[in-house]
This record gives sequence, C-alpha cells and structure tokens, in this order.
Amino acid sequence: MSLLPVYSLMDVELVRGAGSVVTDANGIDYIDLYGGHAVITIGHCHPHYVAAVQQQVAQLGFYSNSVHIGVQEQLAVELANASGYPDYRWFMVNSGAEANENALKLASFATGRSAVVAMRGAFHGRTSLAVAATDNPKIQAPVNRCHDVTFLPLDDATAVAERLAQGDVAAVIIEGIQGVGGVYEASAHTLRTIERACTDTGTMLVLDEVQSGMGRTGTFFAHQVAGIQPHIITMAKGLGNGFPVGGILVHPDVAVWDGMLGTTFGGNHLACAAALATLHVVQRDNLVAEAARKGAYLINAVRGIAGVTAVRGRGLMIGIDTVVPSSVVRAHLVRHHRMLTGNASTPNTVRVLPALTIDDGLLQQFVEALTHTLAELAS
Ligand SMILES: Cc1ncc(COP(=O)(O)O)c(C=O)c1O
Repeated sequence: MSLLPVYSLMDVELVRGAGSVVTDANGIDYIDLYGGHAVITIGHCHPHYVAAVQQQVAQLGFYSNSVHIGVQEQLAVELANASGYPDYRWFMVNSGAEANENALKLASFATGRSAVVAMRGAFHGRTSLAVAATDNPKIQAPVNRCHDVTFLPLDDATAVAERLAQGDVAAVIIEGIQGVGGVYEASAHTLRTIERACTDTGTMLVLDEVQSGMGRTGTFFAHQVAGIQPHIITMAKGLGNGFPVGGILVHPDVAVWDGMLGTTFGGNHLACAAALATLHVVQRDNLVAEAARKGAYLINAVRGIAGVTAVRGRGLMIGIDTVVPSSVVRAHLVRHHRMLTGNASTPNTVRVLPALTIDDGLLQQFVEALTHTLAELAS
C-alpha cells in the first residue's frame, strides 16, 4: 500500500456513476445519499455536464489568470445573478479551504486587523487559517495555533457583539448551516444581530456556504432565509459537481487591489466549464425548489422512524440523530441496503446530502431502509 493511511475508508471501490446510483468494481450498485461529502449537485455523469466538460477540454483545458478567461467571466456574471448577489464580484480558487483562506485574508487586508471570530463546532477546512478557525484541536497542528481565533457559541450573538466591540476583529466566519459539526444552524435573529455588530464595528461578515450553497438547502445560500447580506460568501463542493473548484463572492464596497490575491489553477477554463454546466442544470431543472420540496418530504418522513431521536437541517442537507452510533447505522445501510450516507463529528448523526436531482423513489427507499436498519439494530 503506497497511500498515506489518513482516512478510514468504507470498504467499497467505486468505478462508475449515473444520477444517484454509483457502481463498485464488482458491478454492485449503491444509492448515493452522500455525494462524496455534499459535492454532487446534479447527479453523477449528468449528460449536459459530461458534454460541456468534454467540449472544453478538447478546446482549451487550462490557461492561468494571466489572460482573460471568457468562461470565468461568464460564470461570475451568471453565478452572481443566480445567487441573488448581482453586484458582487467573484474570485476563484480550487477548494473550500482555499476559499475560506482567501476570504479571511481579504477581510484582514480590508480592515487592517488580524483577529477572527468563529463558532463552536465550526469546520472551515484544513489549510492554515481555515483549520485554525475550525473547532477541532485534533486536526490543528502546532503551527496552526499561532492565529488569533476566538470560538463563540453558535447561537450567542451577544457574545459575538461583545468580542467585536474590542475593535481588533477582521472577520466573523460562520457556516450557512454547520455540516461536519452535526447540521446545526444559528437562528435568523442571531445572524441579523451578528450582521449589525459587524456593521457597527467595521468587521467583515464571511458566510461559509461551501457545503450549504448551490441550492442544497432550498435557497441558493442557506443564510438567505435570514435576510442578511454578508461581505464575503465562500463556495466550493457542489459548485463543480465533482470538479475541484471554489470561489468567493465579494461585496462591491470591499476594497481590493492588484496582486492582493492570486492562484495558478483557480478559475481555469475546465473548472469554470464544469461549474457553469452545473449551474445551468440547477437553473433549468429548478433544483433549488426541488431541494426544498424533497428535503421537506425526507425530514418529515424520517422524523417518525423509531430509533430516530432528532432531525436537523433544511432542503437536502439533513442530519439524523439515531439511538445507536451512526458508524453502526451507516455500515448496516451499506452492507444490507447498498446505500451510502455520511457521518459528522457528533457520533450519533447520520448525514444525508444527496444530489438535488435524486428521484423521489430513492428517497422513499432510504426511509424504508433506515426504518428496517434501526429496527434490526434495536432487536
Ligand atoms: C463548511 C465547510 N467549509 C470548508 C470546507 C473545506 O472544503 P475543502 O475540503 O474543499 O477544502 C468544508 C469541507 O467539508 C466544509 O464543510
């Protein structure tokens, strides 16, 4: 074995996918309710996506940001319009951690300050500052602890306002809905109070929509139900439907200058073609509304299952707490029902993050499988 043993793997090797079904090396099909960490938005190997990526790689796969990249400019305009932020500007990177890293760096440049406020239970990535703003000391190396990050309770706007009053905080970073932390979210009231405290103290509000964006929660971004307007919004995961791509949307009033940010690969032709194709399918097939509809069904249906103790989330970003540890439930779902689901840092949470295109029938099958699984594990 030549790979670093840093992951605990499901004992499955996937070689093929179509929609919400993935197939292993032995020809066995699995229903994908996880999308490889919330990445698959429009299903695996969507024909429009495949054609667009094939066409782009055959035409021009890559050039760096030393030239105009038409497809990147098109993506910036279409994404800003589709997301409800038509006057925001777009900077592209390759992953969620990089998006957050650049957002926080931009906030620090813009404010001249260096402290960051993050939320307890937060996950923002594994690069230096992003992991420092992640509430998990187990994944922070000593070198990451030199950053000035204060972790405050997710739903305590007063604590945030008091910290910001000290005047040294560059940014508050908060997930639209906490994913890895167990699918928890701040209330709309809390978000609005934090937004006001940011305005009063000249602090940047950064919304991490890396997992909850691209329509997954039934609005384009999860924070939009609160009616707030962040200075910076970060995206990745579902943006490229599996092609590594991320980016930040930046309020027009945030000052930027030549050379402030940069990247070699971010925003290349192929990445933008993948993201644009994903966005077109999301819009054409009304997938934001579909996520809301399907999520409402699923949340309601699993709530009634014996052995389920709590259900959280919105749209197709759902956390289901079970009486038994989620590792046991997930292993049973894989072995006996051929279904892939996710875990969270809370040990009893099963995370369900399917493609927004998933068939209603597959969601129904999942409800039945979870019902049987929890009944069997209880006996
Ligand atoms: C909310 C959130 N932010 C950032 C990240 C980091 O993204 P990436 O793994 O693409 O660096 C993740 C990954 O799970 C995430 O859930």
